[in-house]
Amino acid sequence: MKKINTHFQKLQDSYLFAEVSHRVQAYLREQPDASLIRMGIGDVTLPLPKSVIDAMHRAVDDEAKAQTLRGYGPEQGHDFLRAAIEEHDYRARGIDISKDEVFISDGAKSDTANIVDLFSNDVRLAITDPVYPVYVDSNVLAGRTGELMDDGRWSGITYLDCNRENGFVPTLPSEHVDVIYLCLPNNPTGTTLTRDQLQQWVDYALSEDAIILYDGAYEAFVREEDVPRSIYELKGAKQCAIEFRSYSKTAGFTGVRCGYTVVPKDLQVGSASLNAMWRRRQTTKFNGASYISQRGAAAIYTEEGKKEVRQNIDYYLHNAGVIRDAFLKVGYEVFGGINSPYVWVKTPDAYPLSWDFFEYLLREKQVIGTPGVGFGQQGEGYFRFSAFGSTEDTREAMERMLK
Ligand SMILES: Cc1ncc(COP(=O)(O)O)c(C=O)c1O
Repeated sequence: MKKINTHFQKLQDSYLFAEVSHRVQAYLREQPDASLIRMGIGDVTLPLPKSVIDAMHRAVDDEAKAQTLRGYGPEQGHDFLRAAIEEHDYRARGIDISKDEVFISDGAKSDTANIVDLFSNDVRLAITDPVYPVYVDSNVLAGRTGELMDDGRWSGITYLDCNRENGFVPTLPSEHVDVIYLCLPNNPTGTTLTRDQLQQWVDYALSEDAIILYDGAYEAFVREEDVPRSIYELKGAKQCAIEFRSYSKTAGFTGVRCGYTVVPKDLQVGSASLNAMWRRRQTTKFNGASYISQRGAAAIYTEEGKKEVRQNIDYYLHNAGVIRDAFLKVGYEVFGGINSPYVWVKTPDAYPLSWDFFEYLLREKQVIGTPGVGFGQQGEGYFRFSAFGSTEDTREAMERMLK
């Protein structure tokens, strides 16, 4: 008899962006000439850096000749990229990570979802609310989250509430947990932890024998000195943390697809090496990221590439500053947007619910953002603005807000 993985039926529809799109379409049917400014979805808009494009063109030429054709590559990624990561993302910053601890992938979404393969189904998970939904949904599919309760939460998850009281940064759990998801700088709130604050998480994980799954997809946006760019800057992190990185927001790779995950060799669970397990998992289920995208990724570690990437990130951070300043000027409460492309704004008293504020912005200002409640119940009454648009659009949207 055919039987399906019934955990799929527990997954709720990906409601947030579908609902945003549905409401925008409905509005456009009423007002087809409306000039909408989209500050919702977190996709990049600047073209890829020239050094990346040139490197990918050269890689295409390699594929055009029998002598330089690259077929299947190593599942863990090409040596040239793993070595560049070791040197530039880690050793240059005084962090001791070696290339055989680096696994190249097609992006952080797959890796943050697939990592669940490494853990037993009875681990206790800690996940922030609000959150990037992949962490929850991938565990639902694995059957690890227990029952969906009346309040919309899963019984198998310890929720780390992030709210106004703690400045939208997670505080240590009051009960024992085994696996902790942290995303810093955070999507959706744009907040960060200082080095001292993150050290507390590492110390907690070491003392509780827990593992931190650290999503650093927005690491390139960190500008403040006391905010870590890698969890491995912290003492003891190699014994308790896996780090995910993505070139999507760093270098505009959302359509090219490349990222990587660091699984340190020190990371042991009993006699099992998580590094060896992840290697086994990847060699079984993954055939490597494309040679062309890996050549493109390696180009961002050249002097020219670094300069171009920095310029692009500065552009988005400038937009984030424009958004922050505009909302602060009119007296809104604002989080994030300093080391992050996301600005998290408290909705005004007149619109205490995120979706009501969404309707107000859509209809009165023709600006589209993302209702915070879509990222978790603690996001109710908040709104996410993305800085990935053009500066002209961002300015225009904020002028409309100020009117
Ligand atoms: C927190 C976070 N992690 C991971 C990803 C996915 O990154 P990638 O494009 O590398 O799959 C995103 C994308 O929006 C994200 O916001």
